[in-house]
Amino acid sequence: MSQETPSPRSPLQAALGYLDWLINPFQRRGVVAVYDLLSTRSPTERGLYLNLGYWPEASDLDDACEALVMRVAEAGGMSEGDRVLDVGYGFGDQDILWARRRAPERIIGLNITASQVAVAQRRVAEAGLTERIDLRLGSATEMPIESDSADLVVALECAFHFDTREDFFREAWRVLRPGGRLVTADILPMPKAGGWIARLQQRFSWWLVASKFAIPPANAYMRPHYQALLALRGFERIRIESIREDVYAPLHRYLARHPESVRRLHPIARLAARVALRFDAASVYRGLDYVLATAVKSE
Ligand SMILES: C[S@@+](CC[C@H](N)C(=O)[O-])C[C@H]1O[C@@H](n2cnc3c(N)ncnc32)[C@H](O)[C@@H]1O
Repeated sequence: MSQETPSPRSPLQAALGYLDWLINPFQRRGVVAVYDLLSTRSPTERGLYLNLGYWPEASDLDDACEALVMRVAEAGGMSEGDRVLDVGYGFGDQDILWARRRAPERIIGLNITASQVAVAQRRVAEAGLTERIDLRLGSATEMPIESDSADLVVALECAFHFDTREDFFREAWRVLRPGGRLVTADILPMPKAGGWIARLQQRFSWWLVASKFAIPPANAYMRPHYQALLALRGFERIRIESIREDVYAPLHRYLARHPESVRRLHPIARLAARVALRFDAASVYRGLDYVLATAVKSE
């Protein structure tokens, strides 16, 4: 699939927006403003993925993004006949891939960023999949979706944004049928580890990501609390696995060796990425966990 052009805004407006976003420590952009700013400038070459990828067998960034998409489908047991609800679908590439490779009966998507919804709907139409994929504007925390209507709810690298993730768990529970499954690929803070310098790096890396990517403070908790919130909501068979070693460090190494991926970003974002790539992955991502979580709604 070809790259899209960024949404119309003057180059000066875009540059000022990026400068404010990246340099101003007091800026507090909401999630929609962040994704409107990023527009369709994904560092991937063939698709428009916005995830960090799953790298054990990937040879490039697009491969890694697709591998994460398929890893999530596998963890959630996505299969033929499933009625899937996909929240935070970005530009819809993941839904097109699932429709082709896993053949669920239908996928309904909800995304809060209208500019992405328009592009994603167009891509689904171009792929000839409108009968099976229905991508809508809407929020994961207040779903315009019938109760007990989904076999599988998926949140691929987006639940950390939701205001709040706990509200999303409540909604996921409501829309799932009894026995239905939830799967998330999610970013959390890491448990405290190491001496004071390592802990300072942990706090800084979490703060940086949380403040630039609109993560509400209410979502800043670790694996045990994540598990407790799912259990409190009534989910069973909860499994939370950290896959951070297969995500952050290999992505960092790949970007350091493939400047053409970084070149696809806006020039100001490119500069920021190049600064980050001068540091080693262990310190840049020290404060960030990356989990795959699955749970089942009790029968
Ligand atoms: C990091 S991107 C991931 C996109 C896509 N899943 C992928 O992997 O390429 C996060 C996505 O979550 C969406 N999002 C954020 N908050 C949301 C909410 N409350 N409801 C639905 N979508 C939301 C954003 O618009 C964006 O598409």
